[in-house]
Amino acid sequence: MEKTLTFDNQSINEAMNIKLTDIPKDIPAFQTGIRRAPRREAKLSNADIKLALKNALRYIPEEYHEELAPEFLNELMTYGRIYGYRFRPEGNLYGKPIDEYKGRCTDGKAFQVMIDNNLDFAVALYPYELVTYGETGQVFQNWMQYQLVKKYLEVLTEDQTLVIQSGHPVGLFKSKPDAPRVILTNSLMVGMFDNQEDWKRATAIGVANYGQMTAGGWMYIGPQGIVHGTYSTILNAGRLKLGIPQDKDLSGRLFVTSGLGGMSGAQGKAVEIAGGVGIIAEVDYSRIETRYTQGWVSEVAKTCKEAFNLAQQKIDANEPCAIAYYGNIVDLLQYAVDNNIHIDLLSDQTSCHAVYDGGYCPMGITFEERTELLAHNPEKFAHLVDETLRKHFELIKTLHNRGVYFFDYGNSFMKAVYDAGCKDISKNGIDEKDGFIFPSYVEDILGPQLFDFGYGPFRWVCLSGKHEDLLKTDEAAMSCIDPNRRYQDRDNYIWIKDADKNNLVVGTQARILYQDAMGRTNIALKFNDMVRRGEIGPVMMGRDHHDVSGTDSPFRETSNIKDGSNIMADMATHCFAGNCARGMSLVALHNGGGVGIGKSINGGFGMLLDGSQRVDDILRTSMPWDVMSGVARRAWARNENSITTVMEYNKMCEGKDHLTLPFIADDEMINDLVGDRIFE
Ligand SMILES: NC(=O)c1ccc[n+]([C@@H]2O[C@H](COP(=O)([O-])OP(=O)(O)OC[C@H]3O[C@@H](n4cnc5c(N)ncnc54)[C@H](O)[C@@H]3O)[C@@H](O)[C@H]2O)c1
Repeated sequence: MEKTLTFDNQSINEAMNIKLTDIPKDIPAFQTGIRRAPRREAKLSNADIKLALKNALRYIPEEYHEELAPEFLNELMTYGRIYGYRFRPEGNLYGKPIDEYKGRCTDGKAFQVMIDNNLDFAVALYPYELVTYGETGQVFQNWMQYQLVKKYLEVLTEDQTLVIQSGHPVGLFKSKPDAPRVILTNSLMVGMFDNQEDWKRATAIGVANYGQMTAGGWMYIGPQGIVHGTYSTILNAGRLKLGIPQDKDLSGRLFVTSGLGGMSGAQGKAVEIAGGVGIIAEVDYSRIETRYTQGWVSEVAKTCKEAFNLAQQKIDANEPCAIAYYGNIVDLLQYAVDNNIHIDLLSDQTSCHAVYDGGYCPMGITFEERTELLAHNPEKFAHLVDETLRKHFELIKTLHNRGVYFFDYGNSFMKAVYDAGCKDISKNGIDEKDGFIFPSYVEDILGPQLFDFGYGPFRWVCLSGKHEDLLKTDEAAMSCIDPNRRYQDRDNYIWIKDADKNNLVVGTQARILYQDAMGRTNIALKFNDMVRRGEIGPVMMGRDHHDVSGTDSPFRETSNIKDGSNIMADMATHCFAGNCARGMSLVALHNGGGVGIGKSINGGFGMLLDGSQRVDDILRTSMPWDVMSGVARRAWARNENSITTVMEYNKMCEGKDHLTLPFIADDEMINDLVGDRIFE
């Protein structure tokens, strides 16, 4: 017997007062020249397609179902996703000054600034598809979620918490001013289903959002966010591998890499700031144009010969220069191999975490042909990708044997090469358990030199939208750094001193500055005091998830964790919970990030500095926790620099914080004792 429901859509409608009511009449026009996401791949059964439609229609009042169901079906069949384009506001979105937003509390308005900034044409990779960066990193799954979350943020009060799961606003729950205003997660999947195939289905039927890191955590600040990390990475790679002294830069050195997209677009700017010469291969001309117009690359070369000749001229003249090479990285490297060209540092920043979804362009075809092939013949596309990855690996091996230092830039390049059939890229030649033959940048450089001390990508946004506020915060941050303490502090001091001159802002008035636990705490307290005194408007403070703590990612952030716990996600989960408990304004936890579904759990936060005493109190406990929980885990894994950092911290925080340190067993004693035993 069929069950009779005790409700209908009318009673459901009456039971909600926060909902989508103004249904736009048409799909707003798509502006030409704005990059669009390629068709996304997913295998959907007939039942899945029906489910996807019913799921999307959950946001829509019944009277519009007949009109919108075919439109949503068309989007799903055309793009592999239901984006709900009709609900996208017309024209460009951008982070406006906070006072221009509606809201019942400053946090509610502040998060609207952050969301809109993540979707700005100038900032986002595929703004119409809500992708901020990293090929697939979305702010929300669809525009209905954008509209509904906005409505919630407009009514959110300072004793409520908005709960968001994969872009979907579950609702507002009464909490208290000291609790987070927003708790959000993206694509957290049950272990058994935590794989690319199940995730693709989940996202196509509208239950999962790939938040990447800061896209789904609303904390992306344009490519500047990554310039500082890239600058530190290549500078320290030069010091560690090329013997450059700690007080010198990359003058006269050549860095070759690829990618001028969302994050990779930072490479040109970073190499120039570090004083070196860089050639960055990019297959999509529109991205070269963007970076050239922004001044983030200084020259464009259309042939390999032109690129290397120009680089040599700049090296000879000792002039920093970023050269975009329009073409495939594999062709560029082939030219370098054939012509025996000397390269100092070599990397790659194509979107290898999503090679079969368009993140990596095969050789022999143009970017436009790649888009066509991806849409119409994904099997052939995948075959070409594998072939190119194998070739790419061969070329890197040749260059490596000639003495070039290659490092993986956290884009899953080595994993992609391994998946393409090159088992010899893994250390044990069988599987990935022991890692890969080339170091990742975190394993070799960023981990030991920065993360193990607690230095990570602290950032802030001046919500007034005023450049003068940003300049005041730059000054204030600089006054908190002692450049003579460590060489990292000197690098950070120089970075912030020159930040405005380097013209780094794209989108909102934002800044990134690598800092350690106490540096972040002191700067945050100083800014909050400036807000209190009325010297600047409110500030949203946060960090990249790509940090000391917050992220468990064995192929990247935690690749220098060698006690076997690199496969655990306890630290990221605890960091999230601890930030929640201490009252950060927004706490986020995601699956995937920059390395792909199932390969990392990553979290971050947003903290609104409104000048209140309440915020001072939260900062004093949450900032050290956010950083030191990660350093503690690194120290327990026996990482040398973390151990010394924790020793100092325990002394400094006696009676308040206390972190457990490991006793170190003697390797020789263990080797002698164990001999060649195994246990089966
Ligand atoms: N910069 C960092 O510190 C950092 C940190 C972590 C991870 N990553 C990773 O780096 C990757 C890139 O990130 P993104 O945001 O720039 O992605 P993106 O997709 O915006 O940019 C990648 C660029 O590479 C280009 N490209 C693809 N194949 C190419 C080829 N064969 N030759 C030349 N160019 C090619 C694409 O056209 C695109 O512009 C991601 O996997 C990301 O997770 C970067």
